[in-house]
Amino acid sequence: MKVHVLFLLIHYFNGVQAGLEDQIIELDQLTFTGCANYILDTVPYTTQFMDWAVFCRDMNALSSLVGCFESIGRNELYMYGYLFEECASENLVLDESNITNAANHLLIDGVPAEFIRKDTPSENVKRPVIVNGTVAMLFVLGQQQYDKMYSDSTWYGIGALGYWLSVCLVGAIANWSVIIFPSLRFKLNGTIAKSWRKYITLPALAKKSQSRLKTIGLIGMLLPSRIETIVSVLFFVLLVVFSAAGINPYKNNPNFALNEFTLTKYVGDRAAHLCIFLVPLLLLFGGRNNFLIWLTRWKFSTFVAYHRWIGRWVVLLAIVHGCSYSSLFNMTNTYGSRVATSFIQWGITGIVAGSLVLFQGLLFLRRRWYEFFLITHIVLVFVFVFSAYQHTEDLGFSGVLYASFAIWGFDRFVRLARLVVFGFPMAEISLQDDKIRVTIPKPAHWTAVPGGHAWIHFGDKAWFWQSHPFCCIADETNLTFYCKVQKGITAKFQKKLQSHPEKSFKIRVGVEGPYGKSNPIKHHSDVVFIAGGNGFPGIFSELEQLLKALDSKQRLQFNWIVKDVDSFNMMAEHINRLSIARIEFNVYITQKSSPGPKSLDSPCEEDAFAEKKSISQGSIPQEEFPSVNFYFGRPDLMETVQSNIEDCSTGVAFVCCGPTAMIDDLRYFVVSNIDKTNKRVDFYDTLEIWA
Ligand SMILES: Cc1cc2nc3c(=O)[nH]c(=O)nc-3n(C[C@H](O)[C@H](O)[C@H](O)COP(=O)(O)OP(=O)(O)OC[C@H]3O[C@@H](n4cnc5c(N)ncnc54)[C@H](O)[C@@H]3O)c2cc1C
Ligand SMILES: *[C@@H]1O[C@H](CO)[C@@H](O)[C@H](O)[C@H]1NC(C)=O
Ligand SMILES: *[C@@H]1O[C@H](CO)[C@@H](O)[C@H](O)[C@H]1NC(C)=O
Ligand SMILES: *[C@@H]1O[C@H](CO)[C@@H](O)[C@H](O)[C@H]1NC(C)=O
Repeated sequence: MKVHVLFLLIHYFNGVQAGLEDQIIELDQLTFTGCANYILDTVPYTTQFMDWAVFCRDMNALSSLVGCFESIGRNELYMYGYLFEECASENLVLDESNITNAANHLLIDGVPAEFIRKDTPSENVKRPVIVNGTVAMLFVLGQQQYDKMYSDSTWYGIGALGYWLSVCLVGAIANWSVIIFPSLRFKLNGTIAKSWRKYITLPALAKKSQSRLKTIGLIGMLLPSRIETIVSVLFFVLLVVFSAAGINPYKNNPNFALNEFTLTKYVGDRAAHLCIFLVPLLLLFGGRNNFLIWLTRWKFSTFVAYHRWIGRWVVLLAIVHGCSYSSLFNMTNTYGSRVATSFIQWGITGIVAGSLVLFQGLLFLRRRWYEFFLITHIVLVFVFVFSAYQHTEDLGFSGVLYASFAIWGFDRFVRLARLVVFGFPMAEISLQDDKIRVTIPKPAHWTAVPGGHAWIHFGDKAWFWQSHPFCCIADETNLTFYCKVQKGITAKFQKKLQSHPEKSFKIRVGVEGPYGKSNPIKHHSDVVFIAGGNGFPGIFSELEQLLKALDSKQRLQFNWIVKDVDSFNMMAEHINRLSIARIEFNVYITQKSSPGPKSLDSPCEEDAFAEKKSISQGSIPQEEFPSVNFYFGRPDLMETVQSNIEDCSTGVAFVCCGPTAMIDDLRYFVVSNIDKTNKRVDFYDTLEIWA
């Protein structure tokens, strides 16, 4: 990890330094560009726009230029360095004698600039002109202003990165301080801290909408949480400000003919700078092995949410850049010749690829064809970054793009390394109701993260390249995953198993992990777990971890809302392992009979609110689990939250995993009760959704 960061920083530093060096324009270039602009703006020596080579071939133009240098006191040989270089690159070599000759020519033939009418055909301009020194100086200063704007753009690019760095640092401090100083959380529980958490960091964007799909016409989207929204909106405002800051070409710039041109160029250049500096960050945020996940302790899904928003702005900035340069080429009638260059073609390719990502990444497509989305996403993003690299190679940005590829390559490398470290063991696949159970022997050197997850590759000819994330339950020898049957590989396994006599088979698997982290719940006086249906494996390991270290001080409650008794029995072996007599273990069975293959995604909608009553029917394994409280019907979650807040001694943490609707409800109930007590109330969910 450290090497990774170092590597990145070095690349980044190189890129930034090259960017800055490129923009510190020397005085000779500045003087030449200012005078050349002035002369060509006043006297039509050439019909082509910005045809600076005219000073290398036309004696009259060169004489006027020498006069301009003289008029502002810069007629020294080293001031011609830039001109000599430019001419040499056009194979029109100039030297000191040309300058001396030109100065003499001006003395003999020079006329004030006003003597030559602006509409004179260029081939008829046969004399050098004497320019006004005051105006010439203004042109040079105008040029200086433009160059400053250009080099400032690099700083605005760095500033945009600085924003994210600061946000991540604030997150890191907030989340690590409760790990390192557990008591801090209980001290920081005043009105302000509570309001901050109630209104800013904990809630969904609006009421209960966090993890539910919102649809506006054809465009469905996952709503970010409130804090994610605030961070993203602030970033957008910052980008708008950075896109416009310091862009005022009119000030002091006498080069009025160029003003429209300059303004357009400023806007286009600034957009390009901001865009390119965000690319490495964009790739970093999209990767599973992003060191910022470790630093900030945010969920991967939070980074994916930011990844999506940054991506939108990056493409938008690229489009702004493309549009402004298109209009520049139009203004100068050079569209055709510019588009013929590979430089511009790479730029266009990048913008097209980037724009396609905006559409192919729509939630609609991610949901329906996840793997298709993933492959096209990778290909298009590669085309985008590679085109950006080709397009900016000569402009001093290659370091930034090397960093982008380094970040990407590093993520892929770590993913491969994790697979190799786990080895490729044979897993046992079996069918349990609507779930595929995957049992994988665990290598001794590999430790699972309670509350974390791992990505599984199944060694199937058609599917091995796909990896799917699942929460796991680990014991000393095995990892057990419970995968709900969906439309992809899980459906294929289900079909295979249904016809299988033993209802189980073996297959080679790759496991990439562990990812995720445990929640900081060791120091709460009370911890309440709430699992809905398939959410059981998501929090069971955390319960197990707490139980192992349980002292008499901590009170644990585990609530599991489950479809039927069979679903409970499937997990019996895991529950058996624990000394659950020491805790309050509640099981809510929501379906009384006929356990049909109904979706577990929404157990809360399966039946109307049933009264909570303790029962002991024959089908319930009450004797086997004497300490488990079985109930029929679903619990009143608001009541569960309120009574636990009331009953806890100093603070309670709610840890939840389950259907999205249940998590959203729970979050809402916790948020609405957080300021009704003096005790500390925390909420953690193990839900991560990005597709
Ligand atoms: C952190 C995490 C932990 C999870 N833990 C569990 C678990 O313990 N038990 C369980 O049953 N399910 C879990 N899931 C969901 C599980 O990963 C998907 O249901 C699974 O990938 C579907 O595979 P499929 O080929 O059968 O489905 P498909 O029919 O191909 O896909 C169904 C839907 O699943 C989603 N999906 C598919 N592949 C991925 C992917 N690689 N990454 C993200 N989403 C994807 C897409 O939204 C897709 O539309 C978890 C998901 C995440 C993100
Ligand atoms: C510069 O000098 C060379 C050699 O004397 C001459 O051929 C060339 O025309 C001069 N160029 C200009 C622009 O005067
Ligand atoms: C040069 O231009 C300035 C500003 O336009 C003007 O005030 C000044 O009189 C001019 N000088 C000459 C010598 O024409
Ligand atoms: C681990 O899995 C193997 C194969 O499924 C099984 O034989 C063994 O009993 C399991 N071990 C534990 C501790 O559950």
